[in-house]
Amino acid sequence: MKILGISGSLRAGSWNTALLRTAAALMAGHELNIANIGDLPLMNQDLEQDGRFPAPVERLRAEILAADALLIATPEYNASIPAPLKNAIDWASRPANTLAGKPAAIIGASPGALGTARAQYPLRQTLGVLNVQLLGQPEVFIGGAAQKFTDGKLTDTATRDFLAKALESFAAFAARVRLP
Ligand SMILES: Cc1cc2nc3c(=O)[nH]c(=O)nc-3n(C[C@H](O)[C@H](O)[C@H](O)COP(=O)(O)O)c2cc1C
Repeated sequence: MKILGISGSLRAGSWNTALLRTAAALMAGHELNIANIGDLPLMNQDLEQDGRFPAPVERLRAEILAADALLIATPEYNASIPAPLKNAIDWASRPANTLAGKPAAIIGASPGALGTARAQYPLRQTLGVLNVQLLGQPEVFIGGAAQKFTDGKLTDTATRDFLAKALESFAAFAARVRLP
């Protein structure tokens, strides 16, 4: 399958982007590319003209349409969805909603104990409204990230094993429900 990874962090040293790189390595046999959402303009309907969007938005929308499934790795910003990720989703949702029917899973890593749970739940609400087909279980909340990543890679063995199993569930789910 073609899987589009979307990280909610624009930080070069992001643990969540590192999580997507690790997922790409663990999902051998699938093609996982990570989207660039850092050059999207802030949502502004004045930038839409006759159903056309600024070039970075058109690129993201085309990448989503071409993907069989989405893997979203999100940080938690002030107990909610990071603005860059919400901005990307808002652009992707404009008519015609490119996210509709896409299978997706949410994962996340944070230095604190909650592992981005407070971002993942509002994200589920938003994606649900957009008719994204979300994997319910397993939930992937990786806390204590500072101890689990080394040199931009998820190196904690137990967490890698857990992530690998979660990604197997995701791949099976996506293969079952993906759009024809
Ligand atoms: C604006 C802002 C708000 C944040 N709020 C939270 C928070 O509510 N909960 C949390 O666990 N971490 C919070 N953090 C810390 C992030 O978890 C931390 O910066 C993490 O490294 C971000 O993910 P990344 O490594 O993928 O960039 C916040 C960081 C920023 C920049």
